[in-house]
Amino acid sequence: MNIIEAIRTRKSIRDFTADPVPQHILTKIIEVASRAPSAENSQPWEFTIVAGDILDTIRKANIEKLKSKAPPHPDLPAKGLPRDSAYRRRQIEIAKQLFHLMDIPRGDLKKRDRWMALGFQYFNAPAAIVISMDHSLYYPRPIFDIGSVTQNICLAALHYGLGTCIANQGIAYPEVLHEFAKIPESKRIVISIAIGYPNWDFPANKVVSKREPVEDITTWVGFKP
Ligand SMILES: Cc1cc2nc3c(=O)[nH]c(=O)nc-3n(C[C@H](O)[C@H](O)[C@H](O)COP(=O)(O)O)c2cc1C
Repeated sequence: MNIIEAIRTRKSIRDFTADPVPQHILTKIIEVASRAPSAENSQPWEFTIVAGDILDTIRKANIEKLKSKAPPHPDLPAKGLPRDSAYRRRQIEIAKQLFHLMDIPRGDLKKRDRWMALGFQYFNAPAAIVISMDHSLYYPRPIFDIGSVTQNICLAALHYGLGTCIANQGIAYPEVLHEFAKIPESKRIVISIAIGYPNWDFPANKVVSKREPVEDITTWVGFKP
C-alpha cells in the first residue's frame, strides 16, 4: 500500500475480532511510528500498551464510572464544539451516519447509551495504546507531536491488516489508567488508540466520513491564476 492509499484508506474502526495482536507487531508499529517529527526532536510521547485481563479490568472500571455518571475529566481540557458552527455540523453529520448504520433511532436512549459505552471500552479491541507525556513538559505544545505519532500508528497499523480508533473516551477517567495500567501520576494521559483486526461485518465499520473540498479549506497566496 502506498502512502496516499494508506492515508485515504485509514478510517476509524469501532469493532474488532477477538484475535489478539501479537506483541512483536505492536513493537514494529511503535518503532516505525516513532519516526514522527517532534519539536526539537523532543519525542514527548510515551506508550502504554494494554491487553488481556488488565484491559478488561480497565474497560469494566470505565463503565462503572460512566454508569455512576461521573463526569469525564481527561487530562486534556475538553469542551463541546461551538453551537451553530461548521465544526458542530460535521460532528452531527458523522453521528447521523453512524447512528443510521447502527440502526439507532434518535429517541432510543438505551441504544444510544450502549453505543456511547463502546468507546469507554476501547470498542472491545484486543489491545489499547495509551499515549502519555511527562508533566514536566510545557503544555500544550507536545500535543502537536503526539498527534503526528498517533496518525503514524494508525497508518502503520494498516500495513499489518489492523484497524484503529483514536478514542478520547478511553482516557476520560485518567485515574483508571493510573491505577490499572500503572501509568505514573507524573504523566499526563493524552489519548488512547484501540487497535485490532477489524470486524468488517460490524455496520459502523462501513462508515466513510466526509471531508470538505480543498477549495473550502485552502487559501492560495501568490499563485498565478
Ligand atoms: C483526538 C481524537 C479523539 C477521538 N475520540 C473518539 C472517541 O472517543 N470515540 C469515537 O468513536 N471516535 C473518536 N475519534 C474518531 C473520530 O470520530 C473520527 O476520526 C472522525 O469522525 C473521522 O472519521 P474517520 O477516522 O473514520 O476518518 C477521535 C478522533 C480523534 C482524532
